[in-house]
Amino acid sequence: MHAHPPFSHPTAQVQIDLAERSYPIVIGSGLLGNAQTYKDLPRAATALVVSNTAVAPLYAAKLTQALQAHFARVLLVALPDGEAHKDWPTLQLIFDALLENGCDRKTVLFALGGGVVGDMTGFAAASYMRGVPFVQVPTTLLAQVDSSVGGKTAINHPLGKNMIGAFYQPQLVVCDLDLLQTLPARELSAGLAEVIKYGPIADMEFFAWLETSLDALLAKEPGALAHAIRRSCEIKAWVVGQDERESGLRAILNFGHTFGHAMESGLGYGEWLHGEGVGCGMVIAAHLSQRLGRVDLAFVERLTTLVRRCGLPVRAPILSVGDNAGRYLELMRIDKKSEAGEIRFVVIDGPGKAAVCAAPDAVVREVIDFCCA
Ligand code: NAD
Ligand code: GLY
Repeated sequence: MHAHPPFSHPTAQVQIDLAERSYPIVIGSGLLGNAQTYKDLPRAATALVVSNTAVAPLYAAKLTQALQAHFARVLLVALPDGEAHKDWPTLQLIFDALLENGCDRKTVLFALGGGVVGDMTGFAAASYMRGVPFVQVPTTLLAQVDSSVGGKTAINHPLGKNMIGAFYQPQLVVCDLDLLQTLPARELSAGLAEVIKYGPIADMEFFAWLETSLDALLAKEPGALAHAIRRSCEIKAWVVGQDERESGLRAILNFGHTFGHAMESGLGYGEWLHGEGVGCGMVIAAHLSQRLGRVDLAFVERLTTLVRRCGLPVRAPILSVGDNAGRYLELMRIDKKSEAGEIRFVVIDGPGKAAVCAAPDAVVREVIDFCCA
């Protein structure tokens, strides 16, 4: 018997419903190099594929060939790889390529890479000539289940993660499962953190399915991956469709991120992967939820077990040899959810439901001290 649905349907589609900014997410095998995948995009003379030095050698030629059926000119810019390059100088390389090649305002940008390439390409598309169309072709699990969907685009600032950016929706998201076969194990685990996230905040049945299907996911079985990506995208579509610009509900997608972002910027971008920060951050946020009386310890342990089984860290890193909890608090105050210097945390309000609330510094300190290695 299958613990997950067999992979019988080659392509699934999830729709993001945002009136005139609506778009499909297509999920399946063999999509990248199939010209049909791109047939409904706006007509233009030029496509610019934005990728990085690790992903471009693997997949840019295949994408370029498929796009040549629709665009007279297909250009490529390969950015330096890694979170440490999600910054102004690297963003500028995209604008350099656009301007040096005389790209007009109809030019379509294609983000071929993980969340770093996706976030930067989206930001470039939002601002080049005040906005050009773009397509997300996510190549990591994390990007296929989260970052390519919903229109958040950004670069980092040394003082805070994703601090400079825009909301800007793509025209299409192409999740080709085949691309995940070359993904390193550590990156697969990082992506699983964002998959797990959807359980506690919205769907404990999905969480239970993850508990039984984790080995299949770690083995990259296409049926298991397809189901995980599809359900994650459905939940994200449901949230983004109600609150595109995060005036309320969308904040629940940041479960674990307030602590995780502090780890990423506190350790130096690229030291811990984003998904590692989120995985460990969810464990801390679950402990905080328990201290605030919203979930029981059994739930915290269940979540911790699944995060650990993914190969993700569950003990938080020390960010300062002095006042470590104070350093976390200082970094978390820069979070975008903070209001007038007060940190807002996503907590689990009973399994399957999330809430956003403030918490006394003393309780947050206790939880951080408890969770740090
Ligand atoms: P990433 O983009 O750095 O990719 C991870 C690594 O895998 C990179 O070295 C990349 O070159 C490599 N890689 C990518 N695809 C590959 C493939 N198919 N085969 C082999 N190697 C491959 O990291 P990520 O985890 O994809 O994304 C993290 C970023 O996403 C963070 O900057 C985070 O802030 C952002 N993010 C954004 C949103 C959003 O809503 N916009 C949501 C979640 C995360
Ligand atoms: N990844 C959080 C969001 O898209 O809102």
